[in-house]
Amino acid sequence: DTVDWDPEDAGKGAYDHYMLKEIHSQPTALSNTIEGRIQDGEVTFEALPAGTFEGIETVQFVACGTSYHAAMYGGQLLRAADIRTEVVRASEYESASGPVDETTLVVAVTQSGETADTLDALRTGADHGARTLAVTNVVGSTAAREADEAVYIRAGPEVGVAATKTYSSQAVSLALLTQRLADDVAHATPADDRAEMLDTLADLPDHLEQILEQNAAETLAQETIDSESYFFIGNGLGHSVALEGALKFKEITYEHAEGFASGQLKHGPLALVTENSPVIAVSTGGDDEKTKTNALEAQSRGAPIVAIGPDDTPLTDIADTHLSIPETHPVWGGLLANVQLQLFAYHAAKQLDRPIDKPRNLAKSVTVE
Ligand code: G6P
Repeated sequence: DTVDWDPEDAGKGAYDHYMLKEIHSQPTALSNTIEGRIQDGEVTFEALPAGTFEGIETVQFVACGTSYHAAMYGGQLLRAADIRTEVVRASEYESASGPVDETTLVVAVTQSGETADTLDALRTGADHGARTLAVTNVVGSTAAREADEAVYIRAGPEVGVAATKTYSSQAVSLALLTQRLADDVAHATPADDRAEMLDTLADLPDHLEQILEQNAAETLAQETIDSESYFFIGNGLGHSVALEGALKFKEITYEHAEGFASGQLKHGPLALVTENSPVIAVSTGGDDEKTKTNALEAQSRGAPIVAIGPDDTPLTDIADTHLSIPETHPVWGGLLANVQLQLFAYHAAKQLDRPIDKPRNLAKSVTVE
Protein backbone atom coordinates (compact mmCIF):
# COMPACT_ATOMS: atom_id res chain seq x y z
CA ASP A 1 0.00 0.00 0.00
CA THR A 2 1.08 3.52 -0.63
CA VAL A 3 0.07 6.55 1.34
CA ASP A 4 -0.49 9.92 -0.33
CA TRP A 5 2.11 12.14 1.18
CA ASP A 6 2.82 15.69 0.23
CA PRO A 7 6.28 16.66 1.47
CA GLU A 8 5.01 20.24 1.79
CA ASP A 9 2.62 19.09 4.52
CA ALA A 10 5.37 17.59 6.61
CA GLY A 11 6.40 20.80 8.28
CA LYS A 12 2.96 21.87 9.46
CA GLY A 13 3.03 19.78 12.61
CA ALA A 14 -0.25 20.00 14.49
CA TYR A 15 -1.49 22.97 12.47
CA ASP A 16 -3.94 22.83 9.57
CA HIS A 17 -2.01 25.44 7.64
CA TYR A 18 1.46 26.91 7.50
CA MET A 19 -0.07 30.33 8.04
CA LEU A 20 -1.46 29.32 11.45
CA LYS A 21 1.80 27.66 12.37
CA GLU A 22 3.68 30.79 11.41
CA ILE A 23 1.28 33.03 13.35
CA HIS A 24 1.91 30.86 16.40
CA SER A 25 5.66 30.89 15.92
CA GLN A 26 5.84 34.67 16.35
CA PRO A 27 6.91 34.63 20.02
CA THR A 28 9.94 32.52 19.04
CA ALA A 29 10.59 34.43 15.84
CA LEU A 30 10.59 37.74 17.72
CA SER A 31 12.88 36.40 20.42
CA ASN A 32 15.32 35.51 17.65
CA THR A 33 14.94 38.94 16.05
CA ILE A 34 15.83 40.65 19.32
CA GLU A 35 18.53 38.23 20.47
CA GLY A 36 21.83 39.98 21.25
CA ARG A 37 20.70 43.26 19.75
CA ILE A 38 20.04 45.07 23.02
CA GLN A 39 23.06 45.47 25.25
CA ASP A 40 23.24 47.70 28.31
CA GLY A 41 20.15 49.57 27.19
CA GLU A 42 21.59 50.29 23.73
CA VAL A 43 20.75 48.82 20.34
CA THR A 44 23.58 47.08 18.53
CA PHE A 45 23.72 45.35 15.16
CA GLU A 46 26.87 43.40 14.45
CA ALA A 47 27.02 44.59 10.85
CA LEU A 48 26.44 48.24 11.76
CA PRO A 49 29.19 49.46 14.12
CA ALA A 50 28.96 52.94 15.66
CA GLY A 51 29.42 55.62 13.03
CA THR A 52 28.09 53.49 10.14
CA PHE A 53 25.40 56.08 9.36
CA GLU A 54 27.39 59.26 9.90
CA GLY A 55 26.66 61.75 7.13
CA ILE A 56 23.18 60.38 6.43
CA GLU A 57 20.48 63.07 6.33
CA THR A 58 17.52 61.35 4.74
CA VAL A 59 16.25 57.79 4.88
CA GLN A 60 14.16 56.40 2.03
CA PHE A 61 12.36 53.12 2.59
CA VAL A 62 11.45 51.12 -0.51
CA ALA A 63 9.20 48.07 -0.24
CA CYS A 64 6.10 46.27 -1.56
CA GLY A 65 3.06 44.57 -0.07
CA THR A 66 3.31 43.64 3.59
CA SER A 67 6.91 44.85 3.71
CA TYR A 68 5.66 48.29 2.67
CA HIS A 69 3.38 48.34 5.71
CA ALA A 70 6.29 47.41 7.98
CA ALA A 71 8.27 50.21 6.31
CA MET A 72 5.44 52.68 7.04
CA TYR A 73 5.62 51.66 10.67
CA GLY A 74 9.40 52.11 10.73
CA GLY A 75 9.17 55.38 8.83
CA GLN A 76 6.90 56.85 11.44
CA LEU A 77 9.32 55.88 14.20
CA LEU A 78 12.21 57.50 12.31
CA ARG A 79 10.23 60.72 11.91
CA ALA A 80 9.56 60.67 15.64
CA ALA A 81 13.35 60.57 16.06
CA ASP A 82 13.57 63.73 13.88
CA ILE A 83 15.14 61.90 10.94
CA ARG A 84 13.88 63.00 7.52
CA THR A 85 12.17 59.94 6.12
CA GLU A 86 10.29 58.90 3.00
CA VAL A 87 8.43 55.65 2.58
CA VAL A 88 8.05 54.88 -1.10
CA ARG A 89 6.25 52.07 -2.89
CA ALA A 90 9.19 50.46 -4.66
CA SER A 91 7.43 50.34 -8.04
CA GLU A 92 6.98 54.14 -7.90
CA TYR A 93 10.47 55.00 -6.72
CA GLU A 94 11.54 56.97 -9.79
CA SER A 95 8.49 59.22 -9.73
CA ALA A 96 7.72 59.41 -6.02
CA SER A 97 11.01 59.75 -4.18
CA GLY A 98 12.62 63.05 -3.25
CA PRO A 99 16.20 64.05 -4.15
CA VAL A 100 18.81 61.30 -3.75
CA ASP A 101 22.53 61.77 -3.13
CA GLU A 102 25.31 60.45 -0.91
CA THR A 103 23.52 61.77 2.20
CA THR A 104 20.58 59.46 1.43
CA LEU A 105 20.22 55.98 2.87
CA VAL A 106 17.94 53.76 0.78
CA VAL A 107 16.57 50.94 2.92
CA ALA A 108 15.05 48.02 1.02
CA VAL A 109 12.59 46.19 3.26
CA THR A 110 12.03 42.81 1.65
CA GLN A 111 11.32 39.46 3.26
CA SER A 112 12.63 37.44 0.34
CA GLY A 113 15.29 39.87 -0.80
CA GLU A 114 14.21 39.03 -4.36
CA THR A 115 11.24 41.29 -5.17
CA ALA A 116 12.00 42.81 -8.57
CA ASP A 117 10.36 46.19 -7.87
CA THR A 118 12.29 46.57 -4.63
CA LEU A 119 15.61 45.54 -6.16
CA ASP A 120 15.04 47.99 -8.99
CA ALA A 121 14.46 50.86 -6.53
CA LEU A 122 17.54 49.85 -4.53
CA ARG A 123 19.67 49.89 -7.67
CA THR A 124 18.24 53.23 -8.81
CA GLY A 125 19.08 54.75 -5.41
CA ALA A 126 22.61 53.38 -5.58
CA ASP A 127 23.03 54.75 -9.13
CA HIS A 128 22.24 58.20 -7.73
CA GLY A 129 24.93 57.86 -5.09
CA ALA A 130 22.80 56.77 -2.14
CA ARG A 131 24.11 54.43 0.54
CA THR A 132 22.03 51.25 0.74
CA LEU A 133 20.81 48.84 3.39
CA ALA A 134 18.75 45.67 3.02
CA VAL A 135 16.40 44.56 5.80
CA THR A 136 15.61 40.99 4.85
CA ASN A 137 14.87 37.50 6.08
CA VAL A 138 17.01 35.63 3.60
CA VAL A 139 20.75 35.41 4.10
CA GLY A 140 22.58 35.70 0.80
CA SER A 141 19.50 37.03 -1.05
CA THR A 142 20.03 39.44 -3.92
CA ALA A 143 19.10 42.47 -1.79
CA ALA A 144 21.49 41.37 0.96
CA ARG A 145 24.31 40.89 -1.53
CA GLU A 146 23.77 44.11 -3.46
CA ALA A 147 23.19 46.53 -0.59
CA ASP A 148 26.13 48.10 1.24
CA GLU A 149 24.92 46.54 4.50
CA ALA A 150 22.28 44.00 5.53
CA VAL A 151 20.18 43.54 8.65
CA TYR A 152 18.61 40.11 9.00
CA ILE A 153 15.20 39.92 10.62
CA ARG A 154 15.75 36.24 11.64
CA ALA A 155 12.08 35.21 11.43
CA GLY A 156 12.95 31.77 10.03
CA PRO A 157 11.54 30.39 6.74
CA GLU A 158 7.97 31.46 5.93
CA VAL A 159 5.99 29.10 3.70
CA GLY A 160 2.51 30.69 3.67
CA VAL A 161 2.19 33.19 0.84
CA ALA A 162 0.56 35.67 3.23
CA ALA A 163 3.34 37.21 5.31
CA THR A 164 2.74 37.02 9.07
CA LYS A 165 5.73 36.40 11.31
CA THR A 166 8.04 38.19 8.90
CA TYR A 167 5.95 41.39 9.25
CA SER A 168 6.35 41.30 13.04
CA SER A 169 10.07 40.66 12.81
CA GLN A 170 10.49 43.41 10.20
CA ALA A 171 8.63 45.94 12.34
CA VAL A 172 10.71 45.13 15.42
CA SER A 173 13.93 45.21 13.38
CA LEU A 174 13.01 48.64 12.03
CA ALA A 175 12.15 49.93 15.50
CA LEU A 176 15.58 48.81 16.69
CA LEU A 177 17.22 50.25 13.59
CA THR A 178 15.55 53.59 14.35
CA GLN A 179 17.33 53.81 17.68
CA ARG A 180 20.59 52.69 16.06
CA LEU A 181 20.27 55.38 13.35
CA ALA A 182 19.36 58.01 15.91
CA ASP A 183 22.78 57.51 17.51
CA ASP A 184 24.66 58.28 14.28
CA VAL A 185 22.55 60.76 12.34
CA ALA A 186 23.23 64.42 13.14
CA HIS A 187 20.20 66.28 14.57
CA ALA A 188 18.40 63.02 15.35
CA THR A 189 16.91 62.61 18.79
CA PRO A 190 16.77 59.12 20.23
CA ALA A 191 13.56 58.24 22.09
CA ASP A 192 13.69 59.83 25.56
CA ASP A 193 12.10 56.69 26.96
CA ARG A 194 14.42 54.33 25.10
CA ALA A 195 15.21 52.22 28.16
CA GLU A 196 11.53 51.71 28.91
CA MET A 197 10.74 50.95 25.28
CA LEU A 198 13.46 48.32 25.07
CA ASP A 199 12.45 46.83 28.41
CA THR A 200 8.87 46.33 27.26
CA LEU A 201 10.13 44.78 24.03
CA ALA A 202 11.47 41.91 26.10
CA ASP A 203 7.88 41.22 27.21
CA LEU A 204 6.50 41.17 23.67
CA PRO A 205 6.84 37.39 23.13
CA ASP A 206 4.78 36.81 26.31
CA HIS A 207 2.20 39.36 25.23
CA LEU A 208 1.91 37.57 21.89
CA GLU A 209 1.33 34.26 23.69
CA GLN A 210 -1.55 35.88 25.58
CA ILE A 211 -3.21 36.83 22.29
CA LEU A 212 -2.60 33.41 20.75
CA GLU A 213 -4.46 31.80 23.65
CA GLN A 214 -7.63 33.81 22.96
CA ASN A 215 -10.34 32.76 20.52
CA ALA A 216 -11.99 36.16 20.16
CA ALA A 217 -10.77 36.61 16.57
CA GLU A 218 -12.26 33.26 15.54
CA THR A 219 -15.61 34.19 17.08
CA LEU A 220 -15.53 37.55 15.32
CA ALA A 221 -14.81 35.82 12.00
CA GLN A 222 -17.87 33.58 12.52
CA GLU A 223 -20.10 36.52 13.41
CA THR A 224 -19.08 38.68 10.45
CA ILE A 225 -18.65 36.03 7.76
CA ASP A 226 -21.65 37.19 5.70
CA SER A 227 -20.50 40.81 5.43
CA GLU A 228 -20.25 42.62 2.10
CA SER A 229 -17.09 44.57 2.83
CA TYR A 230 -14.64 44.97 5.69
CA PHE A 231 -13.11 48.36 6.48
CA PHE A 232 -10.02 48.70 8.66
CA ILE A 233 -9.13 52.09 10.15
CA GLY A 234 -6.39 53.42 12.39
CA ASN A 235 -4.41 56.59 12.93
CA GLY A 236 -0.78 57.25 13.83
CA LEU A 237 1.04 53.94 14.07
CA GLY A 238 -2.35 52.27 13.71
CA HIS A 239 -2.71 53.52 10.12
CA SER A 240 -0.23 51.06 8.65
CA VAL A 241 -1.64 48.31 10.87
CA ALA A 242 -5.10 48.95 9.42
CA LEU A 243 -3.68 48.76 5.88
CA GLU A 244 -1.91 45.51 6.70
CA GLY A 245 -5.06 44.07 8.29
CA ALA A 246 -7.05 44.78 5.13
CA LEU A 247 -4.33 43.41 2.85
CA LYS A 248 -4.08 40.15 4.80
CA PHE A 249 -7.86 39.82 4.85
CA LYS A 250 -8.35 40.29 1.11
CA GLU A 251 -5.35 38.14 0.18
CA ILE A 252 -6.64 35.00 1.83
CA THR A 253 -10.44 35.43 2.05
CA TYR A 254 -11.03 37.01 -1.41
CA GLU A 255 -13.53 39.29 0.32
CA HIS A 256 -13.61 43.02 -0.25
CA ALA A 257 -11.46 44.68 2.41
CA GLU A 258 -9.93 48.16 2.52
CA GLY A 259 -7.76 49.98 4.99
CA PHE A 260 -7.82 53.72 5.62
CA ALA A 261 -6.33 56.37 7.86
CA SER A 262 -9.19 56.92 10.32
CA GLY A 263 -9.65 60.56 9.33
CA GLN A 264 -9.99 59.67 5.65
CA LEU A 265 -13.08 57.48 6.05
CA LYS A 266 -15.37 60.50 5.76
CA HIS A 267 -13.66 61.72 2.57
CA GLY A 268 -15.28 59.15 0.29
CA PRO A 269 -15.19 55.61 1.66
CA LEU A 270 -18.10 56.42 4.00
CA ALA A 271 -20.35 56.16 0.94
CA LEU A 272 -19.71 52.40 1.00
CA VAL A 273 -20.45 51.93 4.69
CA THR A 274 -23.66 50.03 5.53
CA GLU A 275 -24.92 47.74 8.29
CA ASN A 276 -23.28 44.98 6.30
CA SER A 277 -19.75 46.38 6.41
CA PRO A 278 -17.99 46.03 9.76
CA VAL A 279 -15.48 48.74 10.61
CA ILE A 280 -12.47 47.34 12.41
CA ALA A 281 -10.86 50.16 14.39
CA VAL A 282 -7.26 49.65 15.45
CA SER A 283 -5.77 51.13 18.60
CA THR A 284 -2.07 50.88 19.33
CA GLY A 285 -2.50 52.39 22.77
CA GLY A 286 -1.77 55.94 21.61
CA ASP A 287 -4.27 58.75 21.02
CA ASP A 288 -7.47 57.18 19.64
CA GLU A 289 -9.82 60.15 19.59
CA LYS A 290 -9.63 60.54 15.80
CA THR A 291 -10.34 56.88 15.26
CA LYS A 292 -13.22 57.03 17.73
CA THR A 293 -14.84 60.06 16.06
CA ASN A 294 -14.65 58.47 12.64
CA ALA A 295 -15.82 55.07 13.86
CA LEU A 296 -18.85 56.85 15.34
CA GLU A 297 -19.62 58.29 11.89
CA ALA A 298 -19.66 54.75 10.52
CA GLN A 299 -21.69 53.47 13.45
CA SER A 300 -24.41 56.05 12.84
CA ARG A 301 -24.71 54.59 9.29
CA GLY A 302 -25.35 51.20 10.88
CA ALA A 303 -21.90 49.63 10.62
CA PRO A 304 -20.89 47.20 13.36
CA ILE A 305 -17.76 48.51 15.10
CA VAL A 306 -14.95 46.24 16.20
CA ALA A 307 -12.25 47.71 18.44
CA ILE A 308 -8.84 46.08 18.51
CA GLY A 309 -6.62 47.43 21.25
CA PRO A 310 -5.83 47.60 24.95
CA ASP A 311 -8.70 47.39 27.43
CA ASP A 312 -8.46 51.09 28.27
CA THR A 313 -8.80 52.41 24.71
CA PRO A 314 -11.74 54.84 24.40
CA LEU A 315 -12.79 52.79 21.36
CA THR A 316 -14.30 50.23 23.73
CA ASP A 317 -16.91 52.86 24.75
CA ILE A 318 -18.53 52.61 21.34
CA ALA A 319 -17.47 49.21 19.99
CA ASP A 320 -19.91 46.34 19.52
CA THR A 321 -17.02 43.88 19.86
CA HIS A 322 -13.59 44.29 21.44
CA LEU A 323 -10.52 42.19 20.72
CA SER A 324 -8.14 42.81 23.56
CA ILE A 325 -4.37 43.25 23.47
CA PRO A 326 -2.12 43.41 26.54
CA GLU A 327 -0.85 46.79 27.79
CA THR A 328 2.53 47.64 26.34
CA HIS A 329 4.61 50.59 25.16
CA PRO A 330 2.73 52.37 22.32
CA VAL A 331 5.55 51.50 19.89
CA TRP A 332 4.72 47.79 20.23
CA GLY A 333 0.92 47.98 20.53
CA GLY A 334 0.44 47.89 16.76
CA LEU A 335 2.27 44.60 16.50
CA LEU A 336 -0.07 43.03 19.03
CA ALA A 337 -3.14 44.44 17.27
CA ASN A 338 -1.80 43.06 14.01
CA VAL A 339 -1.68 39.53 15.43
CA GLN A 340 -5.41 39.78 16.22
CA LEU A 341 -5.93 40.87 12.60
CA GLN A 342 -3.87 37.93 11.31
CA LEU A 343 -6.06 35.54 13.31
CA PHE A 344 -9.24 37.26 12.11
CA ALA A 345 -8.18 36.89 8.47
CA TYR A 346 -7.09 33.30 8.98
CA HIS A 347 -10.33 32.16 10.61
CA ALA A 348 -12.50 33.97 8.06
CA ALA A 349 -10.57 32.33 5.20
CA LYS A 350 -10.86 28.95 6.88
CA GLN A 351 -14.64 29.25 7.17
CA LEU A 352 -14.81 30.20 3.51
CA ASP A 353 -12.70 27.14 2.72
CA ARG A 354 -10.04 29.12 0.87
CA PRO A 355 -6.63 27.62 0.00
CA ILE A 356 -5.05 29.68 2.78
CA ASP A 357 -1.38 28.94 2.21
CA LYS A 358 -1.56 29.45 -1.56
CA PRO A 359 -4.13 32.09 -2.47
CA ARG A 360 -5.09 32.27 -6.13
CA ASN A 361 -3.04 34.60 -8.34
CA LEU A 362 -0.51 35.43 -5.64
CA ALA A 363 3.13 34.41 -5.23
CA LYS A 364 5.38 34.48 -2.20
CA SER A 365 7.97 36.44 -4.07
CA VAL A 366 7.33 38.43 -7.24
CA THR A 367 10.43 38.55 -9.41
CA VAL A 368 8.92 40.46 -12.35
CA GLU A 369 8.30 44.21 -12.50
C1 G6P B 1 4.41 39.56 -2.77
C2 G6P B 1 3.88 38.71 -1.62
C3 G6P B 1 3.63 39.59 -0.41
C4 G6P B 1 4.90 40.35 -0.05
C5 G6P B 1 5.42 41.16 -1.24
C6 G6P B 1 6.79 41.72 -0.96
O1 G6P B 1 3.43 40.43 -3.22
O2 G6P B 1 2.69 38.06 -2.00
O3 G6P B 1 3.24 38.79 0.70
O4 G6P B 1 4.63 41.22 1.02
O5 G6P B 1 5.57 40.30 -2.37
O6 G6P B 1 7.72 40.66 -0.78
P1 G6P B 1 9.10 40.83 -0.11
O7 G6P B 1 9.75 39.48 -0.22
O8 G6P B 1 9.85 41.87 -0.89
O9 G6P B 1 8.90 41.27 1.29
